[in-house]
Amino acid sequence: MESRCENSVLGHGDLRSRGSKHNMTEQDALLDEFESNGKAAKDTQASMPVKSTSNFTLILLIVMVALTWGIAATAYFGIVDYKAVMVRSSTISSSEVTSCLSILNPLQYQGFFHPFRLLASMLIYIDDFLTGLFKTQDKLYYIDKRRPIARVSPYTRYLSWKEMGPVETRSSKAVPDSDPENPPQAKENEKPGLNKEKAKEPISHDSVKEPDKKKVEPIEKETEKKTQENKKEKVKKKPNPFTSKEDKPILNELKSGDKLLKKGKAKEAELHFRKLIKSNPSSPRARFGLAEALNALSQQLKSNSVLQECIKAYGEVVQIPGCPQALKKQSLLTKSDRETFLGQLSSSLKTLAVLAREMPNDVEVLNKLGVGYLMINKNSKAKQIYETVLQIDPDNGFALTHLGFIVKNEGDWVKGADLLGRGVGSLAEGTQSGKFYFHLGDALHRTNRTKEAEEVYARGAEKGLFRSKYQRSLYNVDRLQSRPFWTPKEAGASEYVRKLEQNWKMIRDEALKVMDVEKGLFLEEEEGLKNTGNWRQFTLFAKGEKTAECNRVPKTCALIDKMPNAKGCRRGQIKYSVMMPGTHVWPHTGPTNCRLRMHLGLVIPKTGDGARLRCADEYRTWEEGKVLIFDDSYEHEVWQNAESFRLILIVDVWHPDITDHEKRTLSAI
Ligand code: LMR
Ligand code: MN
Repeated sequence: MESRCENSVLGHGDLRSRGSKHNMTEQDALLDEFESNGKAAKDTQASMPVKSTSNFTLILLIVMVALTWGIAATAYFGIVDYKAVMVRSSTISSSEVTSCLSILNPLQYQGFFHPFRLLASMLIYIDDFLTGLFKTQDKLYYIDKRRPIARVSPYTRYLSWKEMGPVETRSSKAVPDSDPENPPQAKENEKPGLNKEKAKEPISHDSVKEPDKKKVEPIEKETEKKTQENKKEKVKKKPNPFTSKEDKPILNELKSGDKLLKKGKAKEAELHFRKLIKSNPSSPRARFGLAEALNALSQQLKSNSVLQECIKAYGEVVQIPGCPQALKKQSLLTKSDRETFLGQLSSSLKTLAVLAREMPNDVEVLNKLGVGYLMINKNSKAKQIYETVLQIDPDNGFALTHLGFIVKNEGDWVKGADLLGRGVGSLAEGTQSGKFYFHLGDALHRTNRTKEAEEVYARGAEKGLFRSKYQRSLYNVDRLQSRPFWTPKEAGASEYVRKLEQNWKMIRDEALKVMDVEKGLFLEEEEGLKNTGNWRQFTLFAKGEKTAECNRVPKTCALIDKMPNAKGCRRGQIKYSVMMPGTHVWPHTGPTNCRLRMHLGLVIPKTGDGARLRCADEYRTWEEGKVLIFDDSYEHEVWQNAESFRLILIVDVWHPDITDHEKRTLSAI
């Protein structure tokens, strides 16, 4: 189960130790300074008459300086740590980046002891400079946990970090060049399956190893001997797919470079391969070795610039004439992965497109290219790619789930259910994730295959992809207590409920005024949750930020302004919701367990069959002037079969178990 916030705190110590390292250097420098000052003082003392007060002044000075540095360093570590946590957990919105930057500006940092502010700000800026963090809003932040601050596309929302790695910081306007615009199609004359096998070949660093001939043992029986000899012959004859004839003369040097890398000696490996390149500029593997060394080094140093160099080096490997295909593939796949890591989604996509042009039947490459398109919201391109993969390999689980996801979100539930079902059923790598079980169940439910849907949800829960068969949110903090319906007291929201209920008529009248004057202000629900009817919303706050609509309902917004856990709930919204008779909302689940949802009844019809809400197994209805609280991470469903409209105010509040730190650092949804 994904738990971003908790992950974000893990690995915290890494940055602290990085901080300490910088501090050590600074302290060392300071110590040197002290020593030389002390020496100077002693020298002066030797040539001057000794005064009893000078010792005291010196001690006082030392104590003061030590104290200053002590306090400043403590504050500095605090902020650096805080900064790390912010970076690690901020994966969603650019507004978050802005608030993050402003909080972290030490001159605005409220808890900071004033006289040391300037000193600490200097230290932090030095650290910023050294680490490359927080230079500009657009810059990607390279942190050991690989969590750059990022804005995500609706698709990537569904992707966990483990699977996809980081995403772009900027809005993905940059349209990739001609290559990605023209995704490769399967060449009909090429045999399907040929590259499928290739794609399954291990391409880890180990595979660069030369075949181990010693391992072929002689055997007794004549016939078997012959077969073995044949095999041996084959092993001998089969060339290492990563090695070209230019590499052969320096195989031993290449191997010793690889060994250095295996031992984690990235810097030494880098120098080793650089030397090799000088004497053997046309060896693809020497350059590949350099790229690998730079990749390892960038991770050791947490350095963006080294990573950039590494990306360049992978690009250079494939430029070398005679570079073997296998090496090209590994170089470009790693290059694209590193570019994605740095948030350079367009470049990454371009890299994959270049590779796919060269290997148009390689399903591994094509599957990655498809994800690249999905990450920049080019779903129709991704669709083409996955269709191509399925022409080559009709049972490819990865392509089946991804195509199923696209098709289902286009509204073709029957086809979506079929593809997702086959994909998930394949158990192939990349198919066992909550998002696919989530959409498979939904597609099954919407096509009246309710029993199968329930089975999928139960299986998802068994696998730990969902918290339970009913609670299927995908952005969760694991430790939070949960139940479908909550009392105001349990929700820690008694005060808010009292205020809302006291002012319900004012809230209703403001809503009715907006509804009457300009009906167009209420927008159609956008997430495709509605089965039949008419359901519109008017949003006042979203992701913890006030919308411009507040100007139209100022008193309601002023009231909400006094509710920090509601207006600041970055994983929720505050909105009016109007539902017309004849509306049915599909059973659905909110994205996160970090919020609770309050419904304040404003206009509740009593005629006809009425309106009601199901959450998990319980049914409730609304009352005018009364608040109902439920956890929308549980499956819920709504029917409006009254004779007139139903109007409520939806107010999301932070779950009572969410800590202040989490409120600040969880990514917005
Ligand atoms: C929901 O929160 O999904 C619905 O209950 C909203 C509504 O207007 O009933
Ligand atoms: Mn809902």
